[in-house]
Amino acid sequence: MTEKPVKHTRRVRYAGTHPRKFSEKYKELDPEKYPGDVKKVKERGQTPAGMHLPICVHEICEALKLKQGMSGIDCTLGYGGHSSKILPRILPGGLLIGIDIDSTELAKTEKRIRNHGYDESMFFTRHMNFSQIRDCLDVRPEGFDFILADLGVSSMQLDTPGRGFSFKNSAPLDLRLDNSSGKTAAQLILRVTEDSLTDLLAENADEPYAELLGRAILSKKMECQTTTGLASVITGILQSKGLEPAECKPSIQRVFQALRIEVNNEFEALDQLLHSIPECLKSGGRVAILSFHSGEDRRVKKSFKGFVEQGIYSECVRRPVRPSFQEKYDNPRSSSAKLRWAVRK
Ligand SMILES: C[S@@+](CC[C@H](N)C(=O)[O-])C[C@H]1O[C@@H](n2cnc3c(N)ncnc32)[C@H](O)[C@@H]1O
Repeated sequence: MTEKPVKHTRRVRYAGTHPRKFSEKYKELDPEKYPGDVKKVKERGQTPAGMHLPICVHEICEALKLKQGMSGIDCTLGYGGHSSKILPRILPGGLLIGIDIDSTELAKTEKRIRNHGYDESMFFTRHMNFSQIRDCLDVRPEGFDFILADLGVSSMQLDTPGRGFSFKNSAPLDLRLDNSSGKTAAQLILRVTEDSLTDLLAENADEPYAELLGRAILSKKMECQTTTGLASVITGILQSKGLEPAECKPSIQRVFQALRIEVNNEFEALDQLLHSIPECLKSGGRVAILSFHSGEDRRVKKSFKGFVEQGIYSECVRRPVRPSFQEKYDNPRSSSAKLRWAVRK
């Protein structure tokens, strides 16, 4: 089979000395071709555009007690940061399945991992929701040695302006992890009632101004159809109540988080995953889950403790493991991470 020639396109030029827009960061967006430039960005404590720095790698490898020959599932493949650290520890003889709901990033990550020499017998991907993790038992009906989930959203999703996850750039308010199906956050705002919106802001993100913001957003539905539009409606109403612009930012982040959780049914998916994990682990198999806010961590804690009480898990971590001071400094996105693990009886 002859390969199609790749058409050459000129890169986007930027004004001034430094790229500002995502599309202009052509060196960061091509980490294999420009490793030196990517290294410099990481040394500044920043996440290079289009990349995701894996969090608590050492702590996760310890919790999962990885060994050669093991088989496992990375439920949230993302950029493949954790998978790339797991594979050398389980090979030769091991197998890793990487799953993700985001088909756009999944294809790119699979290609990147293949380029590092991992073939189908060691690693393959599945485009699916981790709520359906039981479907992976067709590969190992006896169960797996380990399961990892690193919850939430990846840096690539957050930093790609067109995905509509960030209020730093103007884009349609989308917030879908799988942008090939389902309703966007902009559509949700058009059909949700004021009571439901207030409830979801409070329940999904503990937003203290839930009522005020729910009312403001619905009175300016059309303005809130874009990322920056929604952010400015939130800033406007909170400033009118005497808050400084910097004090409005946490509320903007919480509103985006609450809408994202709703749009992607994140709590339902997590509950189903937690429920299915024991069936997918061998006796002595281990699970590790990294969460980023209280709504997630509460669920993980409750599930692990409940299964220990029922004698389904033999043990679970007592207090969540946190990233080191150094990691929080090097990668500020790790700051809120909490890692919990459990062992199948
Ligand atoms: C924090 S990132 C994972 C990053 C990855 N551990 C790494 O080091 O590159 C979370 C990923 O989980 C995916 N995800 C979130 N919810 C999911 C679900 N219910 N099923 C499958 N994938 C999901 C997101 O699309 C995203 O790519």
